Amino acid sequence: MKEIELRFRLNGEEQRLTVPSNVTLLHVIREHFGLMGTKEGCGEGECGACTVLMDGRPVTSCIILAEEADRHDIMTVEGLMKDGKLNRLQQAFLDEGAVQCGYCIPGMLMSAQGLLNENPHPTSQEIRKGIEGNICRCTGYNRIVNAIHKASQDEGDS
Ligand code: FES
Ligand code: FES
Repeated sequence: MKEIELRFRLNGEEQRLTVPSNVTLLHVIREHFGLMGTKEGCGEGECGACTVLMDGRPVTSCIILAEEADRHDIMTVEGLMKDGKLNRLQQAFLDEGAVQCGYCIPGMLMSAQGLLNENPHPTSQEIRKGIEGNICRCTGYNRIVNAIHKASQDEGDS
């Protein structure tokens, strides 16, 4: 298998690595960097569990080849914390009781962060649209929508 050399930013830090050309971004995030917050669900781009931000926008990392991340800025759920503190979205998910089993939550958070990056004060309808690619098997959507709405109204820098 051909090997490729990559350079990209991951959670704010420059990274360089060489990987086989057929590995996914999800594989690199979990297996190379050991960042286990990003989950694998369907592996086919359908459930949103593997969502990360690429240049501030949500992408499903299970169907993106690692080479597509070359020269881009990648953020995983681990990158949301600032100075060891939860960001306002993470805090709102806790405050609103939006976390049940938790499996979908990293992907939900990243889709929500991507939405707030583009639209800091979304309506409930816009929030539902923003997370429509993320499946919650515990079907806690109302609380998740409430949490994102609350975070969008909180003062804060992220
Ligand atoms: S694991 Fe990537 S979308 Fe389901
Ligand atoms: S909280 Fe369990 S899948 Fe969403």
